[in-house]
Amino acid sequence: MDITVLLGAPGAGKGTVAARIAPALNARHVSTGAMLREAVKAGTPAGLSAKAYMDKGELVPDQVLADMIGELLAQAPADARFLLDGFPRNVAQAETLDRLAAAHGATVARALSVDVTPETVLERLGGRRTCPKCGEGYHIKSLPPKVEGICDKCGAALVVRDDDKPETIRHRLAVYEEKTAPLAAWYDKAGKLVHVDGTQDADAVARDALAVFGA
Ligand code: AP5
Repeated sequence: MDITVLLGAPGAGKGTVAARIAPALNARHVSTGAMLREAVKAGTPAGLSAKAYMDKGELVPDQVLADMIGELLAQAPADARFLLDGFPRNVAQAETLDRLAAAHGATVARALSVDVTPETVLERLGGRRTCPKCGEGYHIKSLPPKVEGICDKCGAALVVRDDDKPETIRHRLAVYEEKTAPLAAWYDKAGKLVHVDGTQDADAVARDALAVFGA
């Protein structure tokens, strides 16, 4: 089992690049944010406890995430390949991932950092639209749907994510700087950090990301 961790600020384009490269890599794109939003929608115990944190732009408690990822790895076939988008988000979660990976015969092979500027992040989060039904992501300027407000893939009406309000965006960015940004140095020290220039258009980011995998 081979795991790639995606690092980058909220809105850097982690989900967009992961969705684009996963088919070519025969990998599974796992977004912990999307899993938590599903859990909130389904009203599961994990979802109910996560909602208040997500609405405020805070990190959901580590144990909730450790349980989710532990279950994922326990159920995966030995030859599975994962692109983890949104986990780990602090050093404690990175240590948990190493421990879970070792327990399930998996390797955290690399951490792919999607590098962007603060201006790019604000522009991208401000224009993001998401399909609540199939999860497809859009941007009103850079990646618009064919018909305004409608998902190309499933025809559902697109929405603004609850945590994409300006005040929540500001808090998510502060949480990122304090808790998640230090992970880059942590993976660099382990010799696993690779970078991609996330300020390019989505096709170019995907092309450069695939090159990291030699694909
Ligand atoms: P999560 O859903 O993971 O949010 P995030 O990390 O803040 O990341 P985003 O989904 O906002 O951004 P992205 O980098 O994927 O960008 P995207 O591709 O959408 O987490 C949400 C919440 O869940 C957290 O705040 C927390 O509460 C909780 N949570 C999740 N994981 C957790 C964990 N491990 N521990 C604790 N709590 C956790 O792109 C953004 C926009 O830009 C889109 O509109 C897109 O169309 C556009 N775009 C993307 N790439 C490009 C490009 N190259 N060119 C032009 N436009 C682009």
